[in-house]
Amino acid sequence: MTKHTRIYITGFMGSGKSTLTPSIANVLGFDSIDLDVEIERTSGMTVAEMFELHGEPYFRRVEHELLQKISGRTNIVVALGGGTVTIENNLQLIKSTGLLIYLKVDPEILLRRVKRKQHRPLLKDSNGAQLSEEVLRERIHSLIQARELYYNQADIIIALGDSSIAKTVDLIVSKIRNRVQP
Ligand code: S3P
Repeated sequence: MTKHTRIYITGFMGSGKSTLTPSIANVLGFDSIDLDVEIERTSGMTVAEMFELHGEPYFRRVEHELLQKISGRTNIVVALGGGTVTIENNLQLIKSTGLLIYLKVDPEILLRRVKRKQHRPLLKDSNGAQLSEEVLRERIHSLIQARELYYNQADIIIALGDSSIAKTVDLIVSKIRNRVQP
């Protein structure tokens, strides 16, 4: 079995990618990087500002370029954005350069986590205003339905509940350790 030196973490918005990735990397002795944070750092604007000023297609181009750069690094765990793997080019690049892990979280847990956060343009209305809980629930369901086909192409799918961060990190590491280069 191939032992990987590059791990990619995918999952829907609110699944815990950005929170868990640094701890997973720490346990494995790898570096960690967050694609959205890198986009914001290199562009000097937030993801929300980029969507508003330049639109989603521009954001996806920037995201792809950065992913290409990151995919050349080794000993690294990468927190992807929730939509990164839904772009065919990205998915191919990810699958050909590392191990893809899907953090699968119940939509009701996702809803609870994202509903008070304001920074995600895809979870707002077209004027950037907050959605009602019912509309947000429908948005989450329809996006997951459209995306599950991509998420399910992950090498390892890990169903997560509401456990502590420490327990969740232990669970993830136990499932991936034998696929990672020590
Ligand atoms: C997106 C998820 C966001 C961010 C952007 C688009 C998506 O990242 O990349 O707002 O398409 O699901 P998180 O999953 O870290 O919130």
